[in-house]
Order: sequence, then structure tokens, then C-alpha cells
Amino acid sequence: MTSTLPLLHVRDLRVDVGERNVLKSISLDVPPGALVVLMGANGSGKSTLGLALAGHPSYRVTGGHARFGGQDLLALNAQERARAGLFVSFQAPPDIPGVKNNLFIRSALNAVREARGEAPLDAFDFLGSARAAARQLGLPEAMLSRPVNEGFSGGERKRNELLQLALLQPRLALLDEIDSGMDVDGVRAVVQLIQTLRTQGTAFVVVSHYLQLIESLQPDAVLRLDQGCIAETGGVALARGIAQTGFARAAEPVEA
Ligand SMILES: Nc1ncnc2c1ncn2[C@@H]1O[C@H](COP(=O)(O)OP(=O)(O)O)[C@@H](O)[C@H]1O
Ligand SMILES: [Mg+2]
Repeated sequence: MTSTLPLLHVRDLRVDVGERNVLKSISLDVPPGALVVLMGANGSGKSTLGLALAGHPSYRVTGGHARFGGQDLLALNAQERARAGLFVSFQAPPDIPGVKNNLFIRSALNAVREARGEAPLDAFDFLGSARAAARQLGLPEAMLSRPVNEGFSGGERKRNELLQLALLQPRLALLDEIDSGMDVDGVRAVVQLIQTLRTQGTAFVVVSHYLQLIESLQPDAVLRLDQGCIAETGGVALARGIAQTGFARAAEPVEA
């Protein structure tokens, strides 16, 4: 019998930030290798969902449940979630002064390699693959030896998130507006990397407002988040409709 279990299974997830209830009830299934696009107006809760799933301590799950690869995701801390193969990119990647980019990424990579039962990479082997990946992503090699994101432009920070994605090769990647602030070559690199990783079985949740990117990703599903709930589920046609009419119109009830 073949298993049809989703890789990520989220039911009635409720998330509070500070005193505020941001996500009311989110249910979502992502099968292994699938690509789901998440859309929604500013402030609808897209980043909150990503950060809550990643285990960010400021995003408190106050209801519902989530399973990842058959494990209770919410019982794991942020490091354990990453080691289990979950990758969540930041919408606004922070800098980490004093921590060298290549050491940071190698430490993360060796932690997930250990969890996968693979041998750690030494500095020499890591640098070889990191340089190759950086080249493919159009990220200057010098950025590997600088502190994480310090002095990086917005687009370079996003490319640095992609570098981590390319090297970590997670089971599921949630990319939060990875295309924002990127030039056309950067957006092309996003599409190429996602396509490459998909052929290796990585599943994706892609948060984006950019129709051209969404169309080129050929998503299995498009979800519209509204005020902390999944308001609509569809295919690329839903993204095209939102691009044409906007979120305000999409949220209005259809007149008889
Ligand atoms: N750390 C935080 N502190 C206070 N409010 C927050 C925080 N994170 C998110 N929010 C609020 O939660 C709502 C959803 O935010 P967010 O998930 O960032 O939306 P989106 O990513 O869809 O634009 C917004 O009203 C935002 O102001
Ligand atoms: Mg956001």
C-alpha cells in the first residue's frame, strides 16, 4: 500500500503574537514534493504562519496541531524542526554581526547532515560546494567570508537565504517573499533553484505577490490568506484573479 500522508499537515492552527490573536484557524496539507503558493494582503498573517511553523518563540501556538514527516512539529524546538528538514526563509533576513557567513552555513549544514546520518563536511569540502552554489546564485564569493548579512543589500540578503536553501536541501522550504527586492536575474535564480530542488523531492510553500514568478513555478495549489484564515483555495487562476482585481475586491462577497 502506498502512503498518501502529507509531509506537512496543519489543522486549525491558532497563533498569538504578544496580546494579539493573528492566525485564527489555519488548515493546510503539503504533500511530499508539492509546491503551494500562499497569497494574502499585507498583514493577513503569511509571515506569522512561516515563523510559527519554524518555532519562533514570539509566535505562540494557542490551538490546533501540526505534523511534519509524521512527527508532532509543535513538540519540537526550532533547531529540531530545522534538523527534521524544515527550512523557513526570512522576509527580512537579519544580520548577525561577528558571525562569519561560511561558518554559520556550515554549522547549520553539518547539523542537518548529522540528523540525516551523513558525515560532516570539513571547511575545504564545504567551501567548494558553497562557492559553486554562490556562483549559481550570482552572490559574490567574498560574501561567504563576511559576517552574516552585514552590509548586504536587500537583494543580496535574499540571495543569501537562497544559498542556505541550496546547501541545506530541506524536505520542505517555506520562502517568504523571496523575490521582493530582487532584480530579474535574482528572480530567475529563484525559479531555477526551486525547479532543481523539486526534482530532488523538496516541497515548497512560496509566499509571493508576483504573478510572473507564481506562473513560472506551476504550483499545485494557490491559497489566499485573509485575516488569519485560509479564505480561498485554487490554482494559478486564483493568483491571476487576485493580480487583476486585488485583495480588497477578492475579499468582497459576490453580489447576486
Ligand atoms: N512581532 C510582532 N509584533 C506585533 N505584531 C505583529 C508581529 N508580527 C506580526 N504582527 C502583526 O500580525 C499581523 C500579521 O502580520 P504578518 O504575518 O507579518 O503579515 P503578512 O506577512 O501577511 O504581511 C499584522 O497585523 C502584524 O502587524
Ligand atoms: Mg510577510
